[in-house]
Amino acid sequence: MRRFSLRLQWPVRFGGPAQLLLAGCLTFLVAPSPRAATTDDHEQAVGALTDVKAAITELVAADASYAVGPQAYHRAAQRAINALAGAGGDGYRADAGTPGDPPGAIGHIDRLLDRSTTPVWLAPLHSAEANVRAAISYLDDARKAHEFMDYAEATSRALTYLEVARGRPTETGVLGGLEGALANTVLGVPAGAQQQDACRPPSVAPAYGVHGGSVAWVTVPASGGTHALAEDPGATNVSLKGDIIVLETAAAPIVATDCAKHTGAASRPATPASSVTRVSLPASPALYTKAQAEHGKQIFATKCVACHGVDLQGTAAPSVAGNDFLNTAQHNGWTLSIIRYIVSELMPRNAPASLSPQDGASVMAYLLASDCYPPGGTPFPASDQPAFAKIKLGPVPGKHAGANAKGVCPVD
Ligand code: HEC
Repeated sequence: MRRFSLRLQWPVRFGGPAQLLLAGCLTFLVAPSPRAATTDDHEQAVGALTDVKAAITELVAADASYAVGPQAYHRAAQRAINALAGAGGDGYRADAGTPGDPPGAIGHIDRLLDRSTTPVWLAPLHSAEANVRAAISYLDDARKAHEFMDYAEATSRALTYLEVARGRPTETGVLGGLEGALANTVLGVPAGAQQQDACRPPSVAPAYGVHGGSVAWVTVPASGGTHALAEDPGATNVSLKGDIIVLETAAAPIVATDCAKHTGAASRPATPASSVTRVSLPASPALYTKAQAEHGKQIFATKCVACHGVDLQGTAAPSVAGNDFLNTAQHNGWTLSIIRYIVSELMPRNAPASLSPQDGASVMAYLLASDCYPPGGTPFPASDQPAFAKIKLGPVPGKHAGANAKGVCPVD
């Protein structure tokens, strides 16, 4: 590979796709929240999110700094690592300083995960941790990069993972990451806040409607000035009930279904998201051929395995088949059209929409086979079909004889 001089490698401004990605992250800038000594789960989760945001801000600020030469960029990557890994974490270097707090995002998340129970927020937090670790490994490349393009590429990747770790308040599954967990589970309830049983309509404000570890709604008084919300509830519905404003979270429909099934079960222990076994398909349609799934397996092994793992359970990215994936898909109401869209338009994450339509169809066949959907005589089509918008993915009823412990059926 041709080596450029330092002056050429570290231009005054970013150019190309890396800049777009970094600019996209600007919308995530938020006012820093005060960092008290963390004691309860809520504060740990807020601490982790604050550190992830601090790392993102650090990288975006380096982009905006008009710096010439590698030092400013290397330092930004190191400071982002410090915010994520925490003092004493792998890769932490005190001399660069940190925009985060001593535990770092990993420290906060580890403290949350260190328990014998299985709260509903376990899956999104595990995913957040995996993504933060993936970001750290790319930032490690970035802080050592000799050429500017290497820095820009590694940083773009790190930011992608940090975005996933940060998550979305409108998602209750693994993609909800830290924000989803704060918006939809008891992690979002500050110590001392009023909690009500989410299976009953709200009657006071401010309060949190909690059931089975999920938060279904947040109330604030409709009158009397300003009311600060601890977190963005990612409200899907806002309504006025008397003098109470009710913000329904993305978890509200899941909670409502659960309440209907277990009337009066408000005190039962928290249920992990992965234990949901509702069946959404009356019968599993045959959507692909066996030969196609075998072809798809080979494509997966070259184009997808790095992020999603040989066992399809994800290394740094989420799982793409089996119990964990299907439960997430079911929670989020993902249809076959949505999964097809993700695979054909958004994947591979490092080269979106680069699969040919036929290869995309084969990979879909492989994923469906791995999810224990039965093969048939017609191949999975290379284009979207109207019927796919009605097929919701979920655990496949019936025989799972060949499935492993993760609910993945072998393809060979
Ligand atoms: C460079 C890493 C990377 C590669 C390579 C990659 N993915 Fe992904 N994939 C991700 C990430 C990260 C997500 C999470 C959503 C996002 O960030 O877009 C994801 C999400 C998905 C999802 C949705 C699952 C969910 O829970 O969000 C599917 C399905 C998927 N990928 C399939 C594939 C397939 C098929 C390939 C190969 C053709 C592939 N991916 C290649 C990183 C990758």
